[in-house]
Amino acid sequence: FGSTATKIQRNPSYSALTSDDINHFKEILGEKNVIQDEDRLLTANVDWMRKYKGSSRLLLQPRSTEEVSQILKYCNSRCLAVVPQGGNTGLVGGSVPVFDEVIINIGSMNNIISFDKVSGILVCEAGCILENLDSFVVNQGFIMPLDLGAKGSCQIGGNVSTNAGGLRFVRYGSLHGNILGLEAVLANGTVLDMLATLRKDNTGYDLKQLFIGSEGSLGIVTKVSILTPPKLSSVNIAFLACKDYSSCQKLLLEAKRKLGEVLSAFEFLDNQSMDMVLTHLEGVRNPLPPSTYDFYVLIETMGSDESYDREKLEAFLLRSMEGGLISDGVVAQDINQASSFWHIREGIAEALMKAGAVYKYDLSLPVEKMYNLVEEMRLRLGQSAKVLGYGHLGDANLHLNISTPQYDDTVLAQIEPFVYEWTSKQRGSISAEHGLGLMKANEIHYSKSPETVNAFLTNPFVILLLGLANDHSMGELGNDHEDIF
Ligand code: FAD
Ligand code: MLT
Ligand code: ZN
Repeated sequence: FGSTATKIQRNPSYSALTSDDINHFKEILGEKNVIQDEDRLLTANVDWMRKYKGSSRLLLQPRSTEEVSQILKYCNSRCLAVVPQGGNTGLVGGSVPVFDEVIINIGSMNNIISFDKVSGILVCEAGCILENLDSFVVNQGFIMPLDLGAKGSCQIGGNVSTNAGGLRFVRYGSLHGNILGLEAVLANGTVLDMLATLRKDNTGYDLKQLFIGSEGSLGIVTKVSILTPPKLSSVNIAFLACKDYSSCQKLLLEAKRKLGEVLSAFEFLDNQSMDMVLTHLEGVRNPLPPSTYDFYVLIETMGSDESYDREKLEAFLLRSMEGGLISDGVVAQDINQASSFWHIREGIAEALMKAGAVYKYDLSLPVEKMYNLVEEMRLRLGQSAKVLGYGHLGDANLHLNISTPQYDDTVLAQIEPFVYEWTSKQRGSISAEHGLGLMKANEIHYSKSPETVNAFLTNPFVILLLGLANDHSMGELGNDHEDIF
């Protein structure tokens, strides 16, 4: 397990859980939603990366906003620390307790409240699993504006709280644009009803935006209103090989220019990432002649006219091949082949976990400089580690991952702070889409100036929300906030 938590001291002003507290929670939630079972707690105490481990003795599963409100009000009055947990697929150690915080998981709040078939506006409880929401809206002729490898487990409340990016970002943009409304419960139990279903609403400050990406530090998101785009009838996916990174970059520019409105994903992986997937995931096959290419690009188009879209894609591919930007490629002929292409890209995170220890970095960098970091890291680490570069090239988001058989502090010392300093010099972001969590809470200064961090503290809304919530200290709610401030 990671060493970060051992550097932090438990705040002594937080109370320890008593049997009276547990009885009180049983009164609010009923016996079966107050979980003390050791096996279940073991899972909830450990993150997806198996890097961070808390020692919580209590998991609460509220079924309504009112129950969330009662729990938080009580915890606030008793000074009990809490951590909101969704699908626990977060990659920065923000979803698990650091110490003995009470875990609150709203997975039982998984009802769809309404769906407007004209506007595509979905209102649901925040514990709904992303993939279930996608299946629901697909049946209505729409799709979710976000998609990610963890879709089978992550909850929409977790997506909102991390401002998840994912595979459709290049087309549909950030949740800051797609989320139309939220309901959230503050630490003192106050329910904020911001659950609008309006595209346009200029009546004062847009307070919900503060909750998007706030990683549970301001409150628990209990309901979500989200704009879903229409499902388009023609989807094409091409799996391509490029001889070098410069070709991938040029291809991106060309794709934006020539595919324009139909482009819906532009992802890349290097040969090391491909090897990782082929070695560790069963049944995966490289659709192109193996080991010949250094880079792979996955391009998806979504449009409304099958023959026009296909023609457009094929003309683009032909021109790019003639121009030398693409060395080889294949267009999926059916839905099975399409999902096998996606499986390669989406499976990298899982393959890395199977290979041993992973040092995971999620960076926003200028596209033209991005891969230099991967190469410099390879030079630094030599044979001691495998260095992988993949990610959402269309969004200038690099996933730099370093794989070793087991965790080793000397390897870590070679990577950090080098990777953060490098990113900072480029004015990049040390967290493009995964959030700060416990992993990067203390590294925020690499991407935000001291004045900006100070402005977080003095932001009237943050003070209002947290001040309203409790008068002890900032960061009462959530486990990662106190490290920042
Ligand atoms: P959790 O992991 O449970 O929690 C994440 C954070 O949100 C924590 O700080 C937690 O306290 C807080 N939180 C959770 N629910 C609530 C709530 N209701 N109210 C308030 N706070 C809450 N991320 C991307 O951005 N793009 C990707 O492409 C992507 N791909 C992934 C692929 C894999 C295989 C995996 C394992 C992860 C991936 N992730 C990706 C990271 C992760 O899936 C996302 O961050 C996701 O949005 C987290 O949702 P969750 O429900 O699992 O939240
Ligand atoms: C991805 O894009 O695959 C995810 O963000 C997970 C990862 O970074 O490994
Ligand atoms: Zn990603």
